[in-house]
Amino acid sequence: MATKGNATLEPAKTEGKTKSGAQAKPAKEPKQKPRVFSGIQPTSIPHLGNYLGAMRHWAAEQDHYDSIFCVVNLHAQTVPQDPAELRQNTLSLAAMLLAVGIDPQRAPIFIQSQVSAHAELAWLLNCVTSLGWLNRMHQFKSKAGEERESASAGLYTYPVLMAADILLYDTDLVPVGDDQRQHVELARNIVERFNDRFGETFVLPNPLIREEGARIMALDDPTRKMSKSEPNGALFLTDAPSVIKKKIARATTDSERTIEFNPNRPGIFNLATIYSLLSGQSKAEIEEHFAGKGYKEFKAELTELIVATLQPIQQRYAELMNDPAQLEGLLRQGADRVRPRAEATLHRAQTAMGIR
Ligand code: AMP
Ligand code: TRP
Repeated sequence: MATKGNATLEPAKTEGKTKSGAQAKPAKEPKQKPRVFSGIQPTSIPHLGNYLGAMRHWAAEQDHYDSIFCVVNLHAQTVPQDPAELRQNTLSLAAMLLAVGIDPQRAPIFIQSQVSAHAELAWLLNCVTSLGWLNRMHQFKSKAGEERESASAGLYTYPVLMAADILLYDTDLVPVGDDQRQHVELARNIVERFNDRFGETFVLPNPLIREEGARIMALDDPTRKMSKSEPNGALFLTDAPSVIKKKIARATTDSERTIEFNPNRPGIFNLATIYSLLSGQSKAEIEEHFAGKGYKEFKAELTELIVATLQPIQQRYAELMNDPAQLEGLLRQGADRVRPRAEATLHRAQTAMGIR
């Protein structure tokens, strides 16, 4: 597995200094395997970028890690939402996580708002986070855009809530796409400051970012990232075969003919990357396979590959969405399983800060 960044595991520090006068804190939970935690926003149906950059790894690595996955509906509140739509999107995202193969017995899936420790810890962490740190966050700058004055305070402190998500579970590794690297870095800054000020309380998390698939680009404009907010360039995991065919047929390429992994040809590079990730074939194998063939054949094969990958996922998704009561039950069970861990960490932080 190719990784970049600080993907190495730093040993979780389990004991440390207690500042004079501080109460002894409950011990951290002993761990057999590295703890993985990740979250995803229920703001729309996930797209191929979410799948290739995040969800597929989460499913593939459940045995390797002690994983927890969260549908972050509190994060969704940072921009206006239609309540009924949000409720529906929350369920459908959870169904999609199950449909891509996450087994809730091995890796609990839960809804963020059902574990109140997330919001509580976020407040405490807000109070140790410097405004200067938040001012540097790229995602806030791009999401708030020109509307900085009218953006919500929640959008601004969004990364602090994300730090709370991560820290509550003594997380070692946070598998995310490249766009979230800076937020994980902020969580690390918060841990260092908190532990320094209040004594060893939180585990220092590391981002786990794969080189390939970390940035799938928009089909209609390969210079920007595939994103939920730009539906024209996104291929959604629920898209029907005919829609997939149309979107790939229209995907931006260039005036050359050859299929190659050349970053200076971003359209074909992006499509070839998708092909490689879905087929498991190497760049050399793909270039050789398509030598002498044109875009038409390449796009036809790519379409077939995407349809074949998504077909079983869509079938399982439809089954799950057919029985919302069962799905809701599964998610409540997930929350019940993770809540004691989250509360233990919250109590540790509260004790350290002198409010418990
Ligand atoms: P979001 O949709 O922003 O909640 O992101 C959910 C997960 O998908 C995060 O780990 C993101 O880093 C990842 N992700 C989002 N967009 C892309 C993309 N275009 N390529 C690869 N990964 C992505
Ligand atoms: N901010 C992440 C995103 O937009 C979602 C997220 C929220 C998350 N909490 C998290 C990811 C904790 C990893 C860990 O993709």
